[in-house]
Amino acid sequence: MTLPAPAHDRTCLVTGASSGIGVELARELAGRGHGITLVARRRERLEELAADIAESSLVRTEVIALDLTDADARAALPDQLAERGLTVDVLVNNAGFSTVGPVAASDHRREVAMVRTNVEAVSDLCSMFVPGMVERHRGAVLNVASTAAFQPMPGQAGYAASKAFVLSYTHALRAELAGSGVTVTALCPGPVDTEFIDTSGMDRAAATRALPSIMWVPAQTVASAAVEGLVAGRAVVIPGAANRATAVAAHLTPRTLLMPLLARRHPAARPH
Ligand SMILES: NC(=O)c1ccc[n+]([C@@H]2O[C@H](COP(=O)([O-])OP(=O)(O)OC[C@H]3O[C@@H](n4cnc5c(N)ncnc54)[C@H](OP(=O)(O)O)[C@@H]3O)[C@@H](O)[C@H]2O)c1
Repeated sequence: MTLPAPAHDRTCLVTGASSGIGVELARELAGRGHGITLVARRRERLEELAADIAESSLVRTEVIALDLTDADARAALPDQLAERGLTVDVLVNNAGFSTVGPVAASDHRREVAMVRTNVEAVSDLCSMFVPGMVERHRGAVLNVASTAAFQPMPGQAGYAASKAFVLSYTHALRAELAGSGVTVTALCPGPVDTEFIDTSGMDRAAATRALPSIMWVPAQTVASAAVEGLVAGRAVVIPGAANRATAVAAHLTPRTLLMPLLARRHPAARPH
């Protein structure tokens, strides 16, 4: 299974396309001739990117500005695409963010918004668009998880759990769709220097100190590895050898040993 060939009435729906990895995923897919539908809240950013892509390639670009935490706004997506005469061939669930800090000091509204964006929207969009792909025997799904999916993370408890959901869900969806003509891949990046750090409220200097430079991979490299992974029909893509090694080690280390270590090392794991 691989990426479907581009077609004029088909589109790749990319969420979180106003910044970071999402921008690069959209550019990468457009560069391979695929029409793109850009989704996020910041409309001007999406329009700028759409204009930029249209200038450098001949593909059709569409903008749908919406808040993915809003279930009604999500529910309107299939009709908005149908009105434009578009069918989703490739679904990229990339939008997401992290909160940082212990649960004991958390803002409950932001925690819930994170779960809605990182978990609820991913599951909802798959339920919306995968049935059509199965009927047509063609399609691809890229769900963006994280290396945070491979172990619980004191200091980012909700975020790591949300990405564990995405990874588990993607493995299961892939198994369900084996032989259907629809390919499913989980992208698990390690640290990437994007607005993600600022949105989370992480101290940039502390994040850079905590994670060695060998683990940081540029957004463009992450996006091209992801699309290569879709083309090759890979289950999981972890860009960067250091991140692959760390993910395996974290996955295999007993939780009783790993959790106290991570709680000591994470700059934001303690409420005091
Ligand atoms: N950067 C990293 O170190 C890293 C590592 C591993 C995994 N990831 C994952 O990679 C994905 C992309 O992150 P990034 O690094 O590119 O971060 P980013 O630069 O902050 O981009 C996040 C994107 O998500 C969108 N988004 C957030 N909340 C949304 C909402 N409620 N509705 C619609 N769109 C929303 C943002 O758009 P608007 O604000 O315009 O809505 C933005 O386009 C995320 O799932 C993240 O968890 C990132």
